[in-house]
Order: sequence, then C-alpha cells, then structure tokens
Amino acid sequence: MSNIHASRHPLVAHKISILRNKNTKPKQFRELLHEIGHLLAYEATADLPIKQTVTLESPKKVYTATELAGKIGLVPILRSGLSFVNALETLIPSARILHLGIFREKVSLQPVEYYNKLPNVPNVDQVIVLEPMIATGGTAIATVSILKDWGIKSKIKFITACASKLGLEKLTEKYPDVEVFVGVVDGILDERGYIVPGLGDAGDRLYDTI
Ligand code: URA
Repeated sequence: MSNIHASRHPLVAHKISILRNKNTKPKQFRELLHEIGHLLAYEATADLPIKQTVTLESPKKVYTATELAGKIGLVPILRSGLSFVNALETLIPSARILHLGIFREKVSLQPVEYYNKLPNVPNVDQVIVLEPMIATGGTAIATVSILKDWGIKSKIKFITACASKLGLEKLTEKYPDVEVFVGVVDGILDERGYIVPGLGDAGDRLYDTI
C-alpha cells in the first residue's frame, strides 16, 4: 500500500498512546487530535505545489516571494473531522472549508450522506479530507466518490489519526490514487465496525456524548 503513509514520528506515537487511554478526558482528547492534526498535516502538505510571485525586499536583499500554487479545500467529515480543522487552517489560512456529513448506519455499517456543503462548481484545486478514523473504509470510499463526482481531478489526500488495515486496503483497492497520512494502523476491526485497540468512538469522546 504505497499510498499509505503511516507516521513514524515519535510525537505522533506518544500522543496516540494517550488518546487510546479510556481515562483521557474530552478536553485532552480534543487537544491531542489538534496536535496530531498539525503533525500529520506537516507530512501531508510536503509536496504542495508552489509558485514564485512578486519581488519583495528583506532588510538585506531583494527576493522573490513564494506562494501556494493552487487553492486547497479542507473537507472535514462531520462530526469528528472538525477536530482537525483548526490545525489545518492555521497552517493553510487560504484554504476553503467544505463540510460533508456522513454517518455509518448502525446495522448495515453502510455510509449515509446527510449533509453536503460543496458548492455547485468546484472552487478548489486539491482537497485534503479530515477524518480521524478509517474503520471499514466505507465512509472514506463514499467521500472519495462524492469528491470525484463533484469534479476533483487531482490526488485526494486523507489525514487520519487511526485506521484499520482492512479499511485502508478497501480504500486503496477501490481508489489506488488516494493518499492517506495516518498516525497509526491497527489490525483488528470488531463486529460493530470499531477499530481494536483503536480510540473508541472518536465523536463521542471528542464531544462527551458517550
Ligand atoms: N469510528 C470511530 O469513531 N471509532 C471506530 O473505532 C470506528 C469508527
């Protein structure tokens, strides 16, 4: 799975081990996801295209300014994806935030789209999907399908704290061009579609709705 970039950063590993702890409270859970979002974003944005623009002057010399070449869309999947938005928009203040709401039906585990704020015509060149958990891969596959139908032609990236091996395999089998920047990959998915050891229900832990 060459498009899966599992972080080797010691800070990510450390923060994920605190996230996993069932005694970690919502406030700290939110802070940790925010910090992990920053660290994964650094990796996920390393190849963003840049352009040289106007000529400016430092106190010492004339130089050419550098800017991002394209418009970036950040696509948080409601509701847990919101936990990464602030980290990403701090790093890319010009990004557009495009909300998608997809939930996993409890019995069938199939993704159901319930909210879509993509404008009629695509207004971004590249998208980064913010989805803290990829479990069965169903929501991630549905998201890529929505974005491709919308008109995104460039590589779609995901920033994810914790994914199951099976979910990643399903996603990359269906969409080999998608890239995932993930904090940790776990081997087990239980019968209810939860990752083991995983983090539990990320939305419930973020917003204290357990
Ligand atoms: N979503 C979560 O929040 N946790 C899981 O383990 C799987 C999906």
